[in-house]
Amino acid sequence: MKAIRMHSYGGPEVLVYEDIPRPKPGSGEVLIEVHAAGVNPIDWKVREGYTKDWLNHKLPLIPGWDVSGIVADLGEGVKNFAIGDQVYGKLDTSLDGAYAEYAVTNTENIALKPRTADHVHAAAVPIAALTAWQSLFDLAGLSAGQTVLIHAAAGGVGHFAVQFAKWKGSRVLGTASARNVEFVKKIGADMVIDYTIKKFEEEASSVDCVLDTQGGNVLRRSLPVLKKGGIVVSTLEELSAEDLKKYGIRAAHVVARADPSQLKDIAGLIDAGHVKTMVETVFPLEEARKAHELSQSGHARGKIVLMVKE
Ligand SMILES: NC(=O)c1ccc[n+]([C@@H]2O[C@H](COP(=O)([O-])OP(=O)(O)OC[C@H]3O[C@@H](n4cnc5c(N)ncnc54)[C@H](OP(=O)(O)O)[C@@H]3O)[C@@H](O)[C@H]2O)c1
Repeated sequence: MKAIRMHSYGGPEVLVYEDIPRPKPGSGEVLIEVHAAGVNPIDWKVREGYTKDWLNHKLPLIPGWDVSGIVADLGEGVKNFAIGDQVYGKLDTSLDGAYAEYAVTNTENIALKPRTADHVHAAAVPIAALTAWQSLFDLAGLSAGQTVLIHAAAGGVGHFAVQFAKWKGSRVLGTASARNVEFVKKIGADMVIDYTIKKFEEEASSVDCVLDTQGGNVLRRSLPVLKKGGIVVSTLEELSAEDLKKYGIRAAHVVARADPSQLKDIAGLIDAGHVKTMVETVFPLEEARKAHELSQSGHARGKIVLMVKE
């Protein structure tokens, strides 16, 4: 099969389009004929070598852990999927990913894809949407009537978070640059702060929850915006006990995990029209390098996807 693999850590040039053997599904696994692979910042972070110590990848590695495709073969003991099922999900980030014509995965990582989404739009969902869902609902326990500030509201995680929070009945404030302000309003934000011309901490106060996808200064400047007892969930950093005590707030660091029941619920929201997936750019598989360059720019709107099979 055709695949993109990295044989060493480095810049986009280490991504090589090549022929490799098709994998076989093991016990409890399915073989997926990949139609599209979503691109996430973790993909280029792995490629650069930032995750060397904790993910311990064996090289060569197929990157890309968001997938949408069709079940092509079943491993021993698989009863919950059938050949021909259209599935999407988040593959195990410690193993080979989805930048390939075929991928194998444990069935715990996948669910039937949204019926109303094509493979490109389905592949854009899992990691970003699971991160948003788990941050807002599992960790922050966001409820109707509460106010949430979502940083990078136009990004992969952010644009799902805005829509999930609105669906829940929360008041949503989001940060974005001028080019994305109208987009973030359109997907439901009550107020959008153009972070390039305004300080978000002067526009927002006493919020129940902050979803931080930037870390560093943005995370630190977010702490006084929270009400006492409020919670900041960061996709990037942990906070010190000292910070929490100083502001009287709570904090959590999300590490997105595959959850078939959440994938099913998210597919349901998409099919019911509550959530729309923004895919700004689609590249063919062989142009994975370009996709990484765009992701690494930090300014993509919504998602970037690799089309593997039309
Ligand atoms: N821990 C986990 O499990 C987990 C899971 C998913 C993601 N993450 C991490 O979370 C981060 C976000 O992921 P993502 O997929 O949402 O990234 P992304 O889609 O690449 O984010 C791009 C967005 O960030 C916005 N942005 C850039 N700088 C900003 C700033 N200073 N303030 C506000 N918005 C800004 C851009 O909007 P403008 O162009 O308008 O500036 C753009 O729309 C990444 O670092 C990723 O690695 C972690």
